[in-house]
Amino acid sequence: MIYETAPAKINLTLDTLYKRDDGYHEVEMIMTTVDLNDRLTFESRDDGKIIIDVEHNFVPSDHRNLAYKAAKLMQDKYNIKEGVKISLEKSIPISAGLAGGSSDAAATFRGLNELWGINESLESLSELASEIGSDISFCIYGKTALCQGRGEKLTHLPKPPSAWVVIAKPDIGVSTPEIYGALNLDDKIEVRTQDCRDALEKNDYGVLCQTLGNSLEKVTMKLYPEVEKLKNTMKNSGVDAALMSGSGPTVYGFVQKERQAKQVYNALMGCCNDVYIARLLG
Ligand code: C5P
Repeated sequence: MIYETAPAKINLTLDTLYKRDDGYHEVEMIMTTVDLNDRLTFESRDDGKIIIDVEHNFVPSDHRNLAYKAAKLMQDKYNIKEGVKISLEKSIPISAGLAGGSSDAAATFRGLNELWGINESLESLSELASEIGSDISFCIYGKTALCQGRGEKLTHLPKPPSAWVVIAKPDIGVSTPEIYGALNLDDKIEVRTQDCRDALEKNDYGVLCQTLGNSLEKVTMKLYPEVEKLKNTMKNSGVDAALMSGSGPTVYGFVQKERQAKQVYNALMGCCNDVYIARLLG
């Protein structure tokens, strides 16, 4: 039996550059991970079947699950006759902008690489992973990176300075294609990718806080005003910086002390059901 943890990702930055001919957007994002984890176990099966065991009303256990797609791709690519039972324990909220499904898929690539004795490099797994989703390549490593292309071209960056992260998801799910579809590239905010990168290089928490930015934030907030309301509540509760992650609707805030994190957590508990205190993993 193989165990893997699948951490949630957050965007420190997300800049949309242009729409490509293949329908995807060329992006520039700096992403990192937090210790809010799904847990997966992998058990070999002789019958070749891929079985996903998950108890969650909104997570499919069939071919629509990204972990299933990852397992199928590994089986086909490496001509594996064995099957697998994947038990998935969800903690990361879904349709949240935290890459929960992508992180589960990435954990599946890593887990099966070991379970099935494939012994492929993380680099090759990361390349393969991009066939089934844009964020999975990043999640294979789960380390702070500048992600370009449609998200799959990685340049690893230094870990962020240590911080507490309060994560809150309004009680709605947001679809990524919906948000990209509503994006108007002529009306987007400036995102300070290079300044954020410099802040990471210098390990400067103060500057990092000033350089967080996400050009999808305005789009999601227009469609779902509760996201803006939540961000304002978070800012008023004393965080050093707050930002929506990915296409949302999750908003996170940074503080340096556990005591402050608890204060922010308490201020947000009345606003939504999903509120978490985590640490930056990097
Ligand atoms: O790659 P993934 O399946 O996560 O993308 C979901 C959808 O989000 C895509 O079909 C596309 O509509 C949108 N997307 C995009 N540009 C990206 C990543 C995703 O337009 N770089």
